[in-house]
Amino acid sequence: MKTRVFGAVRVVAIGLALALAANAVMGSAARADDIRIGQYVSLTGTTATFGQSMNKGVTMAIDETNSAGGLLGKKITLITEDDQSKPEEAKTAAIKLIKQQRVVALLGEIASSRSLAAAPEAQRAGIPMVTPASTNPKVTQVGDYIFRTCFIDPFQGSTMAKFAHDTLKANQVAILKDVKNDYSVGLAEFFEKTFTGLGGQVVATESYSEGDTEFRAVLTAIRSKNPQAIYVPGYYTEVGLIARQARELGLKVPLLGGDGWDSEKTLEIGGDAVNGSYYTNHLSAEDPSPVVQGFIQKFKAKHGEVPDAMAVLGYDAGRILIDAIKRAGSTDGAKIRDALAQTKDFPGVSGSITIDADRNSKKNIVVLKIEGGKVKFQTSIAP
Ligand code: PHE
Repeated sequence: MKTRVFGAVRVVAIGLALALAANAVMGSAARADDIRIGQYVSLTGTTATFGQSMNKGVTMAIDETNSAGGLLGKKITLITEDDQSKPEEAKTAAIKLIKQQRVVALLGEIASSRSLAAAPEAQRAGIPMVTPASTNPKVTQVGDYIFRTCFIDPFQGSTMAKFAHDTLKANQVAILKDVKNDYSVGLAEFFEKTFTGLGGQVVATESYSEGDTEFRAVLTAIRSKNPQAIYVPGYYTEVGLIARQARELGLKVPLLGGDGWDSEKTLEIGGDAVNGSYYTNHLSAEDPSPVVQGFIQKFKAKHGEVPDAMAVLGYDAGRILIDAIKRAGSTDGAKIRDALAQTKDFPGVSGSITIDADRNSKKNIVVLKIEGGKVKFQTSIAP
């Protein structure tokens, strides 16, 4: 009797184990029908427009591939994790996508601090990661599985320094940077190096931290030094407020920025105060090239709005990853990595993309001006 009970329990246990095994097999069989690409982005939080835009671009690239027959004979499934605009969450999201969702590659992030938090996880797991828009040099230095399809900040900082010095004829500038943000700290440094190299002077350097809303004290300190322009390499939320408070304090000089200004929110939050400002970016919506205008039309038809740079960069990064998987003929991490490294003259909407030996891309940069609440193209500079 005892033995039978024991036997029955064992049968149940074996049955359970078999059911679990069958489930696991079915799970992986279901997975084998698709190619899973993971995306970690800021759909919410302080820089939500960054992630929302990137997501639109990436989704378009994947939908187009799926409706044209898929990739390696399979459908691509995009799995998205919202990192809430926080570096720690970006890291957790990457781990989740790699370990639980078993993605073959990662797309993300926009913000350099968040890419820097997640990249070591991708590198450790041998899962290729492509960031569409993180420009801080350290991001791809994490390792040989980390790629980017945009330019880097030494180029972005030096471009604005030259523009301020040569075109705006500024000799004395102030810098106001976000000390909690790797991107902002890096850009401030690269800008200063070029600007002082040209004979200009940085008369004040002040700091704030992401989330701050009160900038009058630092702006008053800057005002006392009479700069001819103020470089504010930050993200749109603070930039809009900084501009308003600067004007309130009677600071009329141009504000200068980088790609972190690229959001409709800069205009919304900054209002009149951002008129007369300049910033560097990945592309201009006014670019007359048929490739850019064609994409804008397609994007508008789908989303009812003009895409910002992150939407375009997300689309390009998605297509480059898909192209690499296709050329690799495999979803093996090392093979995708090798194919990504060989990306050459890829016809992106944001320009022709070649991945260099440091896994970065050399691309044109544009300088834009905000005038009458609109963003106007000024000049385009080749690397
Ligand atoms: N380049 C920024 C960073 O590295 C992110 C960004 C890209 C913001 C493009 C806006 C547009 O943090």
